[in-house]
Amino acid sequence: MTQSRTRISKAVIPAAGLGTRFLPATKATPKEMLPVVDKPAIQYVVEEAVTAGLSDVLMVTGRNKRPLEDHFDRNYELEEVLVRKGDETRLARVQESSDLATMHYVRQGDPKGLGHAVLCAAPHVGDQPFAVLLGDDLIDARDPLLARMVDVQERHGGSVIALMEVDPAQIHLYGCAAVKPTVDDDVVQVTGLIEKPDPADAPSNYAVIGRYVLDPAVFGVLRETEPGRGGEIQLTDALQALASSPDLGGPVHGVVFKGRRYDTGDRGDYLRAIVRLACEREDLGPEFREWLRRYVTEEM
Ligand code: UTP
Repeated sequence: MTQSRTRISKAVIPAAGLGTRFLPATKATPKEMLPVVDKPAIQYVVEEAVTAGLSDVLMVTGRNKRPLEDHFDRNYELEEVLVRKGDETRLARVQESSDLATMHYVRQGDPKGLGHAVLCAAPHVGDQPFAVLLGDDLIDARDPLLARMVDVQERHGGSVIALMEVDPAQIHLYGCAAVKPTVDDDVVQVTGLIEKPDPADAPSNYAVIGRYVLDPAVFGVLRETEPGRGGEIQLTDALQALASSPDLGGPVHGVVFKGRRYDTGDRGDYLRAIVRLACEREDLGPEFREWLRRYVTEEM
């Protein structure tokens, strides 16, 4: 690694999936716009990128995804009404999302898979490492993950993925990594990857979660990647190629995350995210916790 390596500054957020697990709510509304307490899930994700120092954000969108663009744009009509009312607090809430980052958008015509969505970012990203944050994966702001991944990428080069240990019976729901330890407790070297394996074939219980810092060599690999599981171009397949041939784009490391994470595209996890974040809010928490305690003891 050379000292002159440019700091990673670009984040790509794929948000073009169909969200079929959340139908009918996602028939006309992107799943990333579903509110988690009072903010759409996607705003937490953009805030996380900005907190990690990545303020150039490219969102990969598709049909029905217009509300995503509107959310990060100005809403002059609403702002004017709130200015007239002198409602500074709500005005700040409206402006928060449009002032957050430099937003760019690219359309994925057909949702041909996460790997294909990442490939749509190639012209914007160019020839530098970049981060990918899945738009429906929410990492608690108090458990920083992305900044650590950027550190690891800057130290080792290549690509870095985020891993979480899961119950082995659940590994068929995730991409799964074969790993070797490194000198750092929270960092492993990834030697292989397999998308949604049968538990019997899984090389570990390390599940891939929705944060990546990738070497631009991934684009060349994705262009050559045939559709895999479900007929989709899988990012996991391209990462497997990188992990097994470090000459292509450097090694693949994994940062093992032990913090709080929610898959807001899954109904159960979405509900858990709302309850937990609402309980912990200073403004809403005290009253909501009290109600929840009564509900659990008296009505369940
Ligand atoms: P998921 O598999 O969770 O998204 O993709 P999905 O297809 O929208 O969800 P279900 O299973 O039908 O409910 C992970 C991430 O990759 C994006 C999704 O938007 C999500 O953030 N994605 C997936 C794309 O951007 N394009 C695709 O073609 C597929």
